[in-house]
Amino acid sequence: MEDRKVKIIVATSVTTVIIIILIARFVLVSKVFFLICGAGVAVIFAIFAFAFMSLSHKRRRRILESELKSESGELRMEYSFLRKVAGVPTKFRYSELEEATDGFQSLIGRGSSASVFKGILNDGTSVAVKRIDAEERGEREFKSEVAAIASVHHVNLVRLFGYCNSSSAPRYLVYDFISNGSLDCWIFPKRDDSQRRPRRSGCLSWNLRYKVAIDVAKGLAYLHHDCRSRILHLDIKPENILLDESFRALVSDFGLSKLTNKDESQAAMSTIRGTRGYMAPEWVLEKGISDKTDVYSYGMVILEIVGGRKNVSLVEDEKDKSKRKWQYFPKIVNEKVKQGKIMEIVDDRLMEYDENEVIKLVHIALWCVQEKPRLRPSMAKVVDMLQGSVMVDEPPASKMILVDFLSDDHDDNVNMPKKDSIMSIQSNVESNSTYSFATTVFSGR
Ligand SMILES: Nc1ncnc2c1ncn2[C@@H]1O[C@H](COP(=O)(O)OP(=O)(O)OP(=O)(O)O)[C@@H](O)[C@H]1O
Ligand SMILES: [Mg+2]
Repeated sequence: MEDRKVKIIVATSVTTVIIIILIARFVLVSKVFFLICGAGVAVIFAIFAFAFMSLSHKRRRRILESELKSESGELRMEYSFLRKVAGVPTKFRYSELEEATDGFQSLIGRGSSASVFKGILNDGTSVAVKRIDAEERGEREFKSEVAAIASVHHVNLVRLFGYCNSSSAPRYLVYDFISNGSLDCWIFPKRDDSQRRPRRSGCLSWNLRYKVAIDVAKGLAYLHHDCRSRILHLDIKPENILLDESFRALVSDFGLSKLTNKDESQAAMSTIRGTRGYMAPEWVLEKGISDKTDVYSYGMVILEIVGGRKNVSLVEDEKDKSKRKWQYFPKIVNEKVKQGKIMEIVDDRLMEYDENEVIKLVHIALWCVQEKPRLRPSMAKVVDMLQGSVMVDEPPASKMILVDFLSDDHDDNVNMPKKDSIMSIQSNVESNSTYSFATTVFSGR
């Protein structure tokens, strides 16, 4: 009962009792009157006692409630602090992200399925807010990304602060802001494109390139071997490797990643969607994926780090200048290694580099891009090789048949080889002249 109600009941009851006593005074004989008067006074006392008790009980309850409220506020603050310290992702409201990014003003990157904006949270933390734009696969990529990265913590993996999944698209992921952006801006020559937004870029020194190779290998080794379930990244490329203020490399973009059982040597993938030049043959040919699929992409990235150029590029045809053709850098590397001219593939812009480290990186990369998955080393072994605790043998010659096939594709807009082309190469490969390729790709599993 509310205070006001109690007071009204008390006032009306007391007034009624007094009126009854007054009426009794005139109507009744004195003996009966005194009896009624005594009972009336007793009732009035009872009413006052009830009112007093109920009001003081309510006051006590109100005090307790306010104490509880302030305690739960403190607890909530403590809990969100602990979540942050423990790295558990927080659920953000859309309005919080809108405020943090100042209405999604500062675009810092764009990929095939998302736009990334810089933002600052209320506590001053700089964040990168990734808006997943692709509607049809947005939900799937959002889930893979949260599932893969929410529970893992490693110095070479980008940290997920939180997410926002309102019922309607787009969905958002909130990451630690990594100040030097992605590796592609630091190993490939700057594109002459005035329309593009300014991004931090430059030419990474040899020492830093070698350190980046180790960092990425450590991040991947952790995903493959040290997590409760094995996490396959499946989209390793320079655009998905970020560099912090001291050029420590962090693996990012888990939109294609897949969690697999550690006992499973191979997993099926319902869709083929990777990036040209980084996808392992077994994935392109739909023969199942494994941790070795990431090892292949890693090898491709290492070649790009050494050469300072993209693995697949369109160049002018020497015979017919009006035409352009695809050039595949790993084929060139293969040739140069055979001729003993490894140093010729090093990025021209590098004035200083350690020749032994160049040989080691190129050899490791060629091991990683072997077409036969079982010949590729594990990421843990790559870390050991890079750090010098395991010797690097000379890699076996690889025919790079799928690489040839991909480099023959002249359609600039085609990101993936067409399915019928894959089927035809697969049947050619399995039937006759290129049987060795079939053996190379498939027999090893
Ligand atoms: N945490 C971050 N800090 C700074 N820049 C970032 C961050 N995350 C992403 N970026 C920038 O945004 C770009 C696109 O981000 P991301 O790779 O996550 O998008 P995507 O659409 O999933 O890409 P993809 O084309 O590989 O599918 C990156 O290449 C990078 O330059
Ligand atoms: Mg990306």
